[in-house]
Amino acid sequence: MTSAFFTLHQGLIREGPGEAADVAWAAEMAGLGRDARICDVACGPGADIPALLQAAPEGKVTAVDAHKPFIEELNMRVGADKRVVPYVGKMDKLKGPFDLIWCAGAVYFIGIEKALGAWRYALAKGGHVAFSEPCFFTDAPSQGARVLGQRPGVDCEGHR
Ligand SMILES: C[S@@+](CC[C@H](N)C(=O)[O-])C[C@H]1O[C@@H](n2cnc3c(N)ncnc32)[C@H](O)[C@@H]1O
Repeated sequence: MTSAFFTLHQGLIREGPGEAADVAWAAEMAGLGRDARICDVACGPGADIPALLQAAPEGKVTAVDAHKPFIEELNMRVGADKRVVPYVGKMDKLKGPFDLIWCAGAVYFIGIEKALGAWRYALAKGGHVAFSEPCFFTDAPSQGARVLGQRPGVDCEGHR
């Protein structure tokens, strides 16, 4: 990743699209327990953590990101909340077990196939994976959108 990426993203409340309702929906679909063990993969500055804690108020959120300044920022924000455990690390080297692996706007860094292959070993029995990923809402995406879709794990039609 280039420093230009982080210059652009520094100081943002969140680093990708999404909102608390998305987290609540995924948690409900997963049948998440109040004491669930969650991993927020590539958490950035931690925008989804309040919603994840709301979904599992007696649980624990392990928050991992490769970019140290995001984890430092997160540590300052949630430092006193023992339910949150931030650390600097790679998304394909998770240490579970987790009842929910959540990844917002970041799986494209390694590709869906590689991510799912790595995360399965960090899932608890009956655990779930939820991630957000760009997709087309039209059968005729623009050329620019088609180029964006040409990355690991997604073909140029946006199919996985
Ligand atoms: C677009 S941001 C999304 C952050 C956050 N999930 C959000 O929605 O605000 C992508 C994040 O992925 C992180 N990242 C990229 N590659 C990674 C990797 N291999 N392991 C862990 N984090 C990674 C970046 O540091 C960045 O914080």
